[in-house]
Amino acid sequence: MNVRTPPLQTKFPTIGTTIFTVMSALAAEKGAVNLGQGFPDFDCDPKLVDGVTEAMRKGLNQYPPMTGVPVLREAVAAKIEALYGRKYDAATEITITAGATQAIITAILAIVKPGDEVIVLEPCYDSYVPNIDLAGGKVVRVPLTPGTFRPDFARISAALSPRTRAIVINTPHNPSATVWTREEMLQLQDLLDPTDVFVISDEVYEHMVYDGQLHQSAARFPGLAARSLIVSSFGKTYHVTGWKIGYVAAPAVLTAEFRKVHQFNVFTVNTPMQYGLASYMASPDPYLQLPAFYQRKRDLFREGLARTRLKLLPSEGTYFQCADISGVSALKEAEFCKWLTVEFGVAAIPMSALYVDGDDQGIVRFCFAKKDETLRAALERLAKL
Ligand SMILES: Cc1ncc(COP(=O)(O)O)c(C=O)c1O
Repeated sequence: MNVRTPPLQTKFPTIGTTIFTVMSALAAEKGAVNLGQGFPDFDCDPKLVDGVTEAMRKGLNQYPPMTGVPVLREAVAAKIEALYGRKYDAATEITITAGATQAIITAILAIVKPGDEVIVLEPCYDSYVPNIDLAGGKVVRVPLTPGTFRPDFARISAALSPRTRAIVINTPHNPSATVWTREEMLQLQDLLDPTDVFVISDEVYEHMVYDGQLHQSAARFPGLAARSLIVSSFGKTYHVTGWKIGYVAAPAVLTAEFRKVHQFNVFTVNTPMQYGLASYMASPDPYLQLPAFYQRKRDLFREGLARTRLKLLPSEGTYFQCADISGVSALKEAEFCKWLTVEFGVAAIPMSALYVDGDDQGIVRFCFAKKDETLRAALERLAKL
């Protein structure tokens, strides 16, 4: 018998271990404060855990409906209507997913055929490009404006072609922490108006927008909503990133296609978490209070960073703060992040990790979704920079 694994031709020759895994491992090895990966180091509201526990005790532990439990879909539809003024039908237009990551890949697999072009705005969340590759699509990368990270509509317009199937947008934006304005969304709406291009609108940080600005969901704009699959994540909103649960809101015809892939992808999402979230969503307070909660952390972190030689970029939304390292070091971003972790005990993420070709602009990203004491410990270390 020949005991051997047959040779495999990799589908992803250029993909290795991501910088997030590398930096988290280095942070753990060096005992560094990990402001790299984006997740809170504090717990969620115990009431949410109670709701999930209650659902488990009640015996709600078997497969839920493929599309998600009705009470949760209804709660999501009610929230979107209250916040953004668009009514999605809970039965045919809302689907519960295993986090935003599964929602995004499922959306891409549902609408992108081999050879279709999909526009992504770089830097971007690292799953978009491999997802498009998996669907056999052609990734068309358009940079956000260097320095400000605002969308450049002249370049987006130039990237549109008769083969463009979709564009992926993300506001509030990871990693730059910019928030698209109403005018920018209107420009996108006008630009796409004469086209058949779909929008995958990644809005996982929808409830983290600061300084009185409003989140401009694609749901607010009729022309965009009609062509968009809007993705969000309960993990980000309720401090439960490990639960991997999110949703997609899209017009019924798009949702029908989405669900064809979803049912053979994950089929459905864990039941007790869905019931727990549905009862927790009866009050809007947790997400309405989120901007103030994170804005205070952002300000605490920015005040400390402002005393270092790092140059702060604006943080309009998300739980990220970017900083220009050029006043501190001439190292490449990735080398700087390793040096910072080893020598100063604070881990960050190089922005270049979120560009396919590793574009290096001397900018690193910190995550401030941390306890105040964690942020203070990091700032104490960074003060020596
Ligand atoms: C822009 C963006 N989209 C999607 C996700 C994934 O969300 P989830 O954890 O719900 O899969 C993240 C998580 O970091 C993100 O930053």
